[in-house]
Amino acid sequence: MMNSKTDNPLQATSVLTPAELAEIDKEISHAPYRAAVAIDALKIVQKHHRWVSDESLNALADYLGMSPAELDGIATFYNLIYRRPVGEEVISLCDSVTCWIMGYNKLQQHIIKRLDVGLGETTDDDRYTFLPAPCLGACDRAPVMMVGNELHQNLDEAKIDQILKVKSSTSDVNNNGRQE
Ligand code: FES
Repeated sequence: MMNSKTDNPLQATSVLTPAELAEIDKEISHAPYRAAVAIDALKIVQKHHRWVSDESLNALADYLGMSPAELDGIATFYNLIYRRPVGEEVISLCDSVTCWIMGYNKLQQHIIKRLDVGLGETTDDDRYTFLPAPCLGACDRAPVMMVGNELHQNLDEAKIDQILKVKSSTSDVNNNGRQE
């Protein structure tokens, strides 16, 4: 089979970094078979590059003994894997039914205006990518959004302003080389 690691290890090791491979190998060591770590491996690649390029996806599929189409199917299904470049942080505003009823449109417009970014776009400074998201599983606290890995709930415009203000001051501190 041409897609196994042992048949063609060069592609994977020339594209994936030693750090990525070490983390993926660690996941594989706990798994019943290589392809079982597909989602975790995609997350590892994304952690290192912010997104998963075709080149990385092909190399990873090869390393896990899967076809690129199989792995791409998993990546596409899992909406927190990004197959296009994104900014430093992704804002995922839930647009499923409860959040929609609870004010999605108003909040969407507020973020667009506040960050001067369209839905599906990245801010000019590469700081944020703004995306719609399917139900985030917190309907009783709607409306909600994720910023990076953090869930923010019971949102209104003032709360969004506060979240972005805190994020921006944290970013300024980090950019100045000081501790948070
Ligand atoms: S509809 Fe938004 S969290 Fe479920």
